[in-house]
Amino acid sequence: MSSQTSFPKQRTPGQMLRALRGNWGALPRLLLLFWQSGRKEVMFLLVVSLATGVAPVVQLVFLRHLIDSALSFINGQERLSMVLVWLVLLLLAYIAGIFLLQTEHWIGFGVQELLKARIQERLLKNAGQLPLGQFESAAYYDQLERAQKGVDNQIFSTLAFMVQTPATFFSIVSLLFYVALGSPLFPCLLLIGTLLPLTMIIRHHKQRYLAERKLTSDERRLNYFEEMLRTRPAAAELRLFHIQEHFLQLRRHIFNGLRDHRLQQERKLVVTSIIGDVGQTLTLGLTLFGVVALMAAGSFSLGAYATYFNAVIQFQQFLFTFLLDIATIDRDMHYIQDIFEYLDLVQSSQPPNGNRKAQQTPNVPAIQFEQVSFSYPGTEHPVLRNLNLRIQAGERIALIGENGAGKSTLAKLLLGLYQPTEGRILVNGKDLRELDFTSWRTQCAMVFQSFMRYQVTTRENIGFGDLRQLTHEPAIRSAALKSGADEMIQRLPQQYETPLGKAYDENGQDLSGGQWQKLALARAYLRNAAVLVLDEPTAALDARAEVEVYRQFRDVSHGKSALLISHRLGSARLADRIIVLENGHIVEEGTHSELLTHDGLYAAMFKIQAHWYQ
Ligand SMILES: Nc1ncnc2c1ncn2[C@@H]1O[C@H](COP(=O)(O)OP(=O)(O)OP(=O)(O)O)[C@@H](O)[C@H]1O
Ligand SMILES: [Mg+2]
Repeated sequence: MSSQTSFPKQRTPGQMLRALRGNWGALPRLLLLFWQSGRKEVMFLLVVSLATGVAPVVQLVFLRHLIDSALSFINGQERLSMVLVWLVLLLLAYIAGIFLLQTEHWIGFGVQELLKARIQERLLKNAGQLPLGQFESAAYYDQLERAQKGVDNQIFSTLAFMVQTPATFFSIVSLLFYVALGSPLFPCLLLIGTLLPLTMIIRHHKQRYLAERKLTSDERRLNYFEEMLRTRPAAAELRLFHIQEHFLQLRRHIFNGLRDHRLQQERKLVVTSIIGDVGQTLTLGLTLFGVVALMAAGSFSLGAYATYFNAVIQFQQFLFTFLLDIATIDRDMHYIQDIFEYLDLVQSSQPPNGNRKAQQTPNVPAIQFEQVSFSYPGTEHPVLRNLNLRIQAGERIALIGENGAGKSTLAKLLLGLYQPTEGRILVNGKDLRELDFTSWRTQCAMVFQSFMRYQVTTRENIGFGDLRQLTHEPAIRSAALKSGADEMIQRLPQQYETPLGKAYDENGQDLSGGQWQKLALARAYLRNAAVLVLDEPTAALDARAEVEVYRQFRDVSHGKSALLISHRLGSARLADRIIVLENGHIVEEGTHSELLTHDGLYAAMFKIQAHWYQ
């Protein structure tokens, strides 16, 4: 798992410029975000940072004067009061330095929190806007993982460095003048000594980033096994089938691979640091030797001598810190770029037709599938093939077919969650792609086959169906009555205000599969939508509840364009028309009796089910 990446040793200036720009391209956007997070705070931070940066040299100047005036006082050339003035000034400069440093820390922290809120929200908002197709590929999850890592680990350290770097820079510039007083050669020597480790570190960072990038999917897989081992969803199966040890082994294998890789990277860093630091120390030694030589020539005051060593050492330290900050920001820029790449996903993955109109279609729409073919993103396999289907306004359709026939897929296409690969879907004659998805979806309600079990209250679980009615008790209750959930809710300790799920609330209640399904149904019923889609709405319900749900479905779907997907063929009789799907296309359609007469797939499936009840 080592880094396979090799870097060209010699690069032309053009290549170097492009590489630098590529790496730092995200900086202006980051700075803009930083600025937008809080203008006043950022300005204040810069001012404080500047003052913090100049503080060390002011302190050195005061110290030098203190030493010189103390010596003059001993020789009787100066009054004591003058010595005390320099002493007080020096103390004040130190105290101001302390205040400045802490103020910088405090404001920097505040700005970071502002930025954190802003960027995290943008990330989540983006995830919420992405077309569903994005969630189909491992590459997307790798990208998300990298962006999240960038937000969690890098962005704030980058900012911390960006906040402290101007201060360090100001210290360097002010100390530069001081050090150059001895000889302009000294700063040059120290600079050369510091540049060497810097270039080595930058090179190391880049190799490390590229290698880590390749390991993102391994890391995600590691997280998956860990999650399975420590959370509830898999707990029962893991115990029953004794899979824990097997999962532990899989996890260990991935972990060891990652660990070997990291150790290797760390070893490289240690070697790089030793070489760089030794080189740097040697140049410092050389410079100090030069300072001693200057002293021997004897042109400085004692105060200047005493502080000059200090200045040289401080200058070198600040220089090293500064260049290391730059190297660290350079490293972080790779990760920051990952964040922006993720943020840009929404724009790049919008469907080509950008001028969709927010159009309210007439109350109950007619829907037409015209030669629709569809493959899930990243796959070649067509799930729907040349499908033609017209659902009249107010018509109830039952969609029947074996597992994998494409029923749920058809429903998701109808909602505009995916786009047909070929053909089109018309809503009252208008291409769905030209309609504003948000307004189209507000006209639709659906119970998904894999519906959600939200870990919030019962009321909210239903209220999410129509947020405008989230706190409207009678509407929520009425939806629950229709889905058969009310009876069960009344038996809960806090009825509609009962928190559900145990993961986030000690008093949380868990429900049975069927009870959750009734809530999902109520959620769909709350939204009094013109298009109603139920995908296997009774799969988890007992016989009595099932009959009740279908009885209610007749009423609820009255006058709506409705699609009922079910394996319980008895329920299909409720529909005006039955459509039979096989391998992604329609093989039969008609009423229950027509299809029985036709004696095709539907009749065969119906007879198998009927057989059990005889
Ligand atoms: N997200 C996905 N990515 C890739 N292929 C998918 C995805 N979801 C479903 N498929 C494939 O599409 C085909 C149709 O799936 P779909 O869920 O539409 O079937 P279905 O008729 O609803 O079946 P079931 O009765 O089991 O619910 C299946 O072969 C399945 O493997
Ligand atoms: Mg399905």
